[in-house]
Amino acid sequence: VSVALAWRGPIANTELNALHAEGFGHSLLDEDWEGQLARHSLGWVVARDADRLVGFVNVAWDGGAHAFLLDTVVAVDHRGRGVGKALVQAAVDGAAEAGCEWLHGDWESHLDRFYTDACGFTPTSAGLRSLRE
Ligand SMILES: CC(C)(COP(=O)(O)OP(=O)(O)OC[C@H]1O[C@@H](n2cnc3c(N)ncnc32)[C@H](O)[C@@H]1OP(=O)(O)O)[C@@H](O)C(=O)NCCC(=O)NCCS
Repeated sequence: VSVALAWRGPIANTELNALHAEGFGHSLLDEDWEGQLARHSLGWVVARDADRLVGFVNVAWDGGAHAFLLDTVVAVDHRGRGVGKALVQAAVDGAAEAGCEWLHGDWESHLDRFYTDACGFTPTSAGLRSLRE
């Protein structure tokens, strides 16, 4: 299977809402991804198998040296073939070409091997605080 990757590639709300729900195992939402990405992202990477959206990652930005990886997701039937690793590498390349010096990422411990071994992240101490409590 050949998958094509595109930095800041076109993407529609309906297809990304469907991939996100499948990939993260939640109900179908109606997020305005196109608006959010245009307003708040340095970039994003779209992976397509022919016309079908099979992978996505979002790169948020502080406007300077720091970019932040969010929402890495690959369609269930395309996992384990290197698509996730290629998505993250394209995000690394896009952020570096935009002049960023650091790409931050956070993940659950079961994905340690994916982000460190496959994608080259160095583990750090980091934290996350819920704003809903
Ligand atoms: C995490 C995810 C993006 C990985 O995508 P993928 O296309 O399956 O990953 P790749 O095929 O590029 O994997 C690259 C390497 O990471 C390893 N890896 C991938 N997923 C892994 C997992 N869940 N646990 C441990 N290692 C994993 C693979 O074994 C592979 O190693 P190898 O090259 O030695 O075989 C995908 O499983 C996914 O969409 N998960 C659900 C959404 C999610 O949790 N996203 C992360 C948000 S932080």
